[in-house]
Amino acid sequence: SKNYKIAVLPGDGIGPEVTNESVKILKVIASVFNYNFQFDYGVMGAEAIFQTGNPLPEETLELCKNSDAVLFGAIGDPAFDNNPDAKVRPEQGLLKLRKELGLFANIRPIKTYDSLIKKSPLKKEIIEGTDIQIYRELISGIYFGEKFTDENGEYAYDVCKYSREDIVRIAHLAFQDAQKRKKKVTLVDKANVLDTSRLWRKICQEIAQEYPDVTLDFMFVDNAAMQMILNPKHFDVILTENMFGDIISDEASVIGGSIGLLPSASIGEDNALFEPIHGSYPQAKGKGIANPVASILSAAMLLDYLGLGPAAEKLRESVEHAIESRYVTVDLNADQNYSTAEVGNFISDYIQFSEKTYYN
Ligand code: IPM
Ligand code: MN
Repeated sequence: SKNYKIAVLPGDGIGPEVTNESVKILKVIASVFNYNFQFDYGVMGAEAIFQTGNPLPEETLELCKNSDAVLFGAIGDPAFDNNPDAKVRPEQGLLKLRKELGLFANIRPIKTYDSLIKKSPLKKEIIEGTDIQIYRELISGIYFGEKFTDENGEYAYDVCKYSREDIVRIAHLAFQDAQKRKKKVTLVDKANVLDTSRLWRKICQEIAQEYPDVTLDFMFVDNAAMQMILNPKHFDVILTENMFGDIISDEASVIGGSIGLLPSASIGEDNALFEPIHGSYPQAKGKGIANPVASILSAAMLLDYLGLGPAAEKLRESVEHAIESRYVTVDLNADQNYSTAEVGNFISDYIQFSEKTYYN
């Protein structure tokens, strides 16, 4: 069978612990489904700065460029968060990697699990049945515009810029996905104030003509922040620019009951990277309490991307089984909980056991 090269960047904080579980599970998937995965490790983030002074060493970048997919953990370290004067920062590694690999679309699915409905601080009637797919533009906008801080520290700016091409390529992905779902795209913007938002609206209206079966609606981001928790079922596909997407996806994670559940895929023309939407959670580092599900579901998105759909389905089914069995980490059950590795083992055992009976 074909050989797939998977670059693994565990990163900082809980990144290595959760990524370990995903790699363990991908190895089981490979043996059960008879695939060949080659895992090659690279350093990025604070760990890379401590080792080499560079948050994205050239070697790591090359490794990722030459892989079929990248599995990434998390980035960030308090040593940098609390120091606004730090010139080199862990996050620069991830931003540079996204840019260099051309990962323009960040896809973040938000859904609820029946057995976790009570874990959300939101009311059951409001969240039950929520199923949202966020398309966040990832390599343009205010994150990547010109930046400046004057010498005296009196003023600074960050420029938000979008080109037609930036918008067109992600808009097509969002519309195509909507066609397979509930056929609705909501463009989240601030078109009453920002020129970039008005460009997004104009171009998305043009593109919508090519998808007559899909409805396009618009929502200002401040209202969207409110609707996300008042009426999340309003949304099917959300299409939005870089920073708005960053903010509303963290907000949306409250719906599912834990940010530790949410995966993401970052897609470009030739490359793709898969990562949990949560951060490096330094307080939990090394304690074995981090929820590996967001990373494991990111691995499922990686399998989909490689065209290994049945394995991706199997993996998602196994994660659902763990959640429905309440075999979960402390963020989801304070009374009886399992460690990061126990949850990973439970899921990989289920994959092995249920496939065996299937083949016998
Ligand atoms: C995310 C993170 C990153 C972002 C940080 C770590 C640069 O918050 O992936 O959502 O803002 O894009
Ligand atoms: Mn974020």
